[in-house]
Amino acid sequence: MKNKKEISKKLIDWYYQNARSLPWRTIGGAHFDPYQVWISEIMLQQTTVKTVEGYFLKWITRFPNLKTLADANIEEVLLYWQGLGYYTRARKIHECAKVLQEKYQGQFPKDRKELLKLPGIGPYSASSILAFAFNQKETVMDGNVIRVLSRLYGIETAVDKNKIFELAEQLTDDEKPADYASAIMDLGATVCSPSNAKCLLCPWQEFCVAKQKGIQDKIPLIQKPEKKIFEGYVHIIKDEKGRFFIQKREEKGLLHGLYEFPWQKEKTFLFESDWKETKKRVSHTFTHFHLTLHLIETTVKTVPLNGAFVSPDDFSKYPFSTLMKKVIHQVLN
Ligand code: ADE
Repeated sequence: MKNKKEISKKLIDWYYQNARSLPWRTIGGAHFDPYQVWISEIMLQQTTVKTVEGYFLKWITRFPNLKTLADANIEEVLLYWQGLGYYTRARKIHECAKVLQEKYQGQFPKDRKELLKLPGIGPYSASSILAFAFNQKETVMDGNVIRVLSRLYGIETAVDKNKIFELAEQLTDDEKPADYASAIMDLGATVCSPSNAKCLLCPWQEFCVAKQKGIQDKIPLIQKPEKKIFEGYVHIIKDEKGRFFIQKREEKGLLHGLYEFPWQKEKTFLFESDWKETKKRVSHTFTHFHLTLHLIETTVKTVPLNGAFVSPDDFSKYPFSTLMKKVIHQVLN
C-alpha cells in the first residue's frame, strides 16, 4: 500500500470537488455547532441520510439549541422523533440535553472521557462529535466506511469490525479529521456503493485491492442472522362517536411510551364484544424480526382497559410508531 498520507490526501481532494451538501455539515473543517452534529449523528444511527434530512431540519427549527430541547417535554420530543424508530434514542437525547444544561453549562465537553459519561453517547457518537464538531483526530466508522476499507484492503473474510477499525485509524488524516471522516462516508455512499460500485470515478482506484482483483461486488462479506417472523392481532375498537381506542405502551421494552391500538401475539380477544375479523393487515420489519398484525374490529360503548377514545383528527397529537401509523392508514382507508 502506498504512503498513507498520499491516500488520505487523494480522498480529501476528491471530497472538496464532490462533497454532498448536508444540513449538518460544514465542508472545510469543524462544524460551528456541536449540538447539530450530535443530533444528526444520533439520527443517522440506523437511519438513512435521505430520511434524516427532513427530520433534522424540522428538529432544528423546533429545538434550535440545547436549552429549547432541555426545556421541552418528552411527549413533544417523541413527536418530532416519530417515525425514526429506536425511540430510546430520543429519550436519551432529551436526558442528555438536561444533563448538559444542568452540569456542563450548556456546553459539550471536548473530551472523549467526559462525552462517554453522557446519556446515549457511546464510543461511536463520541468519535463523531469530536471529529465533526472539534476537528479532533478521531476515527469515524459506519457501514459505508466498513465497505470502503474492506474493498481497499481486499478483505475477503467475514467483516471483523475491530480489525477494520485499526485500518481506519491508520488512514485518518492528521490535519483534517473532520473532512476526512465526511469524505470516506461520501465515497461509500456515492461511489463505492454496495452494488455497481463506480470504480472509474474513485480517487482510490489505483490503490484498491478489490478493484484490481475485480471482486468489489463480493466484498464486504457480511453474515446476517435470519430474521424471525411473528404474527399478532391488533384490536381496532371504535365508539359510537367514531373515535378509536388507544393506549400508551409501558415505559419499558419495545416502542415504550408510544401510543398504540392494543395488540398481542395471541389470537384472543381482549374482552367480550362482537368482534369482526378483517382481511386487513400490516407488516413491519424491526431490527431483529418481521411482524404482521391482523386487524380485528369492534364497536363498543366502554372499554375495560386503561386508555382513551381519540378522534382521528387528533391522532397527530400522539406519538405513534411506524407500525401503528400503518395500522392507522388501514383503519382510515
Ligand atoms: N452517517 C453517520 N454520520 C454521518 C454523517 N455525518 N454524514 C453522513 N452520513 C453519516
